[in-house]
Amino acid sequence: MITDTIKYIGVNDSTIDFFEGLFETPDGMSYNSYIILDEKIAVADSVEADFADEWFDNIERESGKKAPDYLIIHHMEPDHSANILNFAKKYPEAIIVSSDKSFKMMKNFFGTDFSSRRIIVKDGDTLSLGKHSLSFLSASMVHWPEVMVSYENEEKVLFSADAFGKFGTLNKNDDWVCEARRYYFGIAGKYGVQVQKLLSKIAQLDIKIICSLHGPVLKDNIDRYIGLYGVWSSYKAEEDGILIAYTSVYGNTKSAAELLFEMLKKRGKENVILTDLARCDMYEAVEAAFRYEKLVLASITYNADIFPFMREFITLLIQRGYSNRTVALIENGSWAPFAAKRMKEMLENCKNISFAKQCVTVLSALNDESTAQTEALANELIR
Ligand code: FEO
Repeated sequence: MITDTIKYIGVNDSTIDFFEGLFETPDGMSYNSYIILDEKIAVADSVEADFADEWFDNIERESGKKAPDYLIIHHMEPDHSANILNFAKKYPEAIIVSSDKSFKMMKNFFGTDFSSRRIIVKDGDTLSLGKHSLSFLSASMVHWPEVMVSYENEEKVLFSADAFGKFGTLNKNDDWVCEARRYYFGIAGKYGVQVQKLLSKIAQLDIKIICSLHGPVLKDNIDRYIGLYGVWSSYKAEEDGILIAYTSVYGNTKSAAELLFEMLKKRGKENVILTDLARCDMYEAVEAAFRYEKLVLASITYNADIFPFMREFITLLIQRGYSNRTVALIENGSWAPFAAKRMKEMLENCKNISFAKQCVTVLSALNDESTAQTEALANELIR
């Protein structure tokens, strides 16, 4: 229960392995849906295709088997929209409420745009249900172009679509921030400008509860969640920390990365993470890169380029607007080390990146010279 008249009717998916076919979900995923009980009954969003029966059972349980009057669709990605047509068939009197762009997408997904039974809403429009009323705000590109959020004026609830979501089923009692950050940078990281736009719109609202399409209903510390979204979407570092991300074949580049890690620890730097890009969840590494102020990239030279895992990692960062950070480079090459040059070239068009003066060049294995370079880099990074 969210309030006496707003109830949760979503589902937990504990079998999913990759959300959107891409993001590891060891703790599953929730597809959230809500029902507002008033003179008119409104359902907010549907759930993923495999969970139709459970969702309809939840609707009936909470509505007392009264047919809903409205289905409000905030976002058309199939994890939320898959059961629109099933809903429309089950409740033939119900009206579908959504943005113009959503109805165009419905035509593509379902072969109908519900023209005889729909309300098209745009930024600023309001829908009254009795005591409750919903005000709609466009949230284009958070995470698709048709997205809207809505604010329930009576109980001060923000139905935030994908925003403020996280990975994991609802019975996971973990801290919101870790999986919410991985979710944010994985899914919406590219759209910082649009997220900022949404934040400036909702800054005018008195929000008591956030109902996202994924993860827990947020009731306490609302300012903390909105504040973190403000940091993430502005591409500023959340913490003064260092991520060392490496790829290594025979362990020598790994040794250089580990040596730097130890040197930073010895110098009192606490917030340092070391990660092997070939073996970690790549999106955990992406999340950490955006979380921290500094990033060290260590790669072998491979086909006169960088190792594929490093190329993928840097590409993921660039796609998400990586900027405003300090980057240091460690390269390894047995005859023609190229990796530092290539990594730098890849990041050159990112905004406001400063490269550490000290580059570490390992020629096959660490020696006195590259150890001294690592030492100089550690000193530079803690300054
Ligand atoms: Fe949860 Fe963009 O769908």
